[in-house]
Amino acid sequence: MGLHAAIAGTGFIGRVHARSARLAGAELAGVAASSPESARAAAAELGADRAFDSAEELVRDPEVDVVHICTPNNLHVPLAEAALAAGKHVICEKPLALDAEGAQRLVDAAAGSGLKAAVPFVYRFYPTVREARERVAAGETGALRLLHGTYLQDWLLRPGDDNWRVDERLGGPSRAFADIGSHWCDLAEFVSGHRITRVSARLLTAVPERSSAAGRKAFESDGGGGEARPVSTEDAAVVQFETDAGAIGSLVISQISAGRKNRLWIELDGAEETLAFDQEHPEELWCGRRETETIIRRDPATLSPPAARLAFLPGGHPQGYADCFDAFVADFYEGVRSGSPAAEMPTFSDGLRAAMVTDAVLTSSREERWVEVPGPRERAVAK
Ligand SMILES: NC(=O)c1ccc[n+]([C@@H]2O[C@H](COP(=O)([O-])OP(=O)(O)OC[C@H]3O[C@@H](n4cnc5c(N)ncnc54)[C@H](O)[C@@H]3O)[C@@H](O)[C@H]2O)c1
Repeated sequence: MGLHAAIAGTGFIGRVHARSARLAGAELAGVAASSPESARAAAAELGADRAFDSAEELVRDPEVDVVHICTPNNLHVPLAEAALAAGKHVICEKPLALDAEGAQRLVDAAAGSGLKAAVPFVYRFYPTVREARERVAAGETGALRLLHGTYLQDWLLRPGDDNWRVDERLGGPSRAFADIGSHWCDLAEFVSGHRITRVSARLLTAVPERSSAAGRKAFESDGGGGEARPVSTEDAAVVQFETDAGAIGSLVISQISAGRKNRLWIELDGAEETLAFDQEHPEELWCGRRETETIIRRDPATLSPPAARLAFLPGGHPQGYADCFDAFVADFYEGVRSGSPAAEMPTFSDGLRAAMVTDAVLTSSREERWVEVPGPRERAVAK
C-alpha cells in the first residue's frame, strides 16, 4: 500500500523524518511549519506535494495516512490527539508530552484505535545496540548489577545559546532530562530488560539567564545579543536509580558539557561481562571480560540475526544516526502495512514510561528524596 506521510514541524528533526519517510517508500504528502510561508519554503525545499497552512489542517487531511509530529514539545499532545481522532497513524517526537498525564491521554487514545503510534527512541535501531540486547537476553552478560552512563551535549553552554526548549511553556518543566535523559533511560531499559523503579535526582540550572531565542534553530547559537530572560528549566541532571531486577545505576545528563556534542554513553555491568556503547562511535560495542576485552564490530557477517537485520552495509562502511531513523520509520511503516508492528518498536507506552521517569526526576529534585516510578500497567496496552 502506498502510504502518504505528512510532517508537522520542518526543523532539524522534521527534515530527518522527511528523508526517512521517502526512503521507506512513502509519498511526502505535505508539510506544516510555524507559518504558511515557512511551510511553503520547506515544501519546496523538501519536494513535498503541498504546504499546509497549519499543523491542525495537516493532521486532519483525508489524503494523509501517517502524521509525523516534529514540532516543539507543547504541541505534541494536541496534534497527536487530533491526528488519532482523524484516524491517522502517528509518529510523535519525544518527549511524547510535557508530563505523564498528557502522555497517558495519548496512550489511551491510541489503545484500541487500531492505529499505530510510535515515539522515535531511535537509538534502539543501532545494530550494536541490538547486539548488546541480544547478549543480555541470551544470558551471556550475566545478571546485570550496574547500569551507568551519560548523555552530554554542549550546544547550550553559554548565556548566548538559546532555543524554544529553554522556555518551559514550549519545552515543558524538564529540559535536559526530558530532551535527552529520556533517550538514555529508554535505551537502558530496552537493552537491559530492567525497569527503573526509583530515582534520586539533582538538577542544575548553571546558566540562569539566556538571550532571546526568536527564530533560533536547534543546535544553533547566535552568540548572544538578544534580550536576556530568566531560565526555569535545568541545564543538567544527575540521577541515581534502582531497577526492578536488582540493579542500581547512575546517569549524568547535560547540555552544557563543553566539547561533548551528542555523547550518549551507556555501560551495563553483568556478572560475566561489561557492555559499553558510545553513540558517537556506534560501529563498535565494547565487551569486557576479566580475561579479555573484545570490540564487537557492526558487521552483518558476524552479528546476531536481530542486529544483522539493521546492518544495511557491509562491515567497514560506517552507518550512523540517520540510518537509525531510516530503520525506525521503515519498521513503523511495515507495521502499518502488515498490521503487526515489530516487538522492538518504541510505542506511545514507551513515551509514557519516559514521561513517568521524567516526572519522578522532577519530584525527586524538588522534594530532595527518592521517588518511585509508577508501574507499567499501560505498557502492554498501546501498540
Ligand atoms: N528522536 C530524536 O532523536 C530527536 C532529535 C531531535 C529533536 N527531537 C524532537 O523533535 C521535536 C522538534 O525538535 P527540533 O530539534 O527539530 O526543533 P527545531 O526548532 O529545529 O524545529 C521545530 C520546528 O517546528 C516548527 N513549528 C513551530 N511551531 C509550529 C506549529 N505551530 N505548527 C507547525 N510547526 C511548528 C518550527 O517552524 C520548526 O521548523 C522536539 O520535540 C524534539 O524533542 C527528537
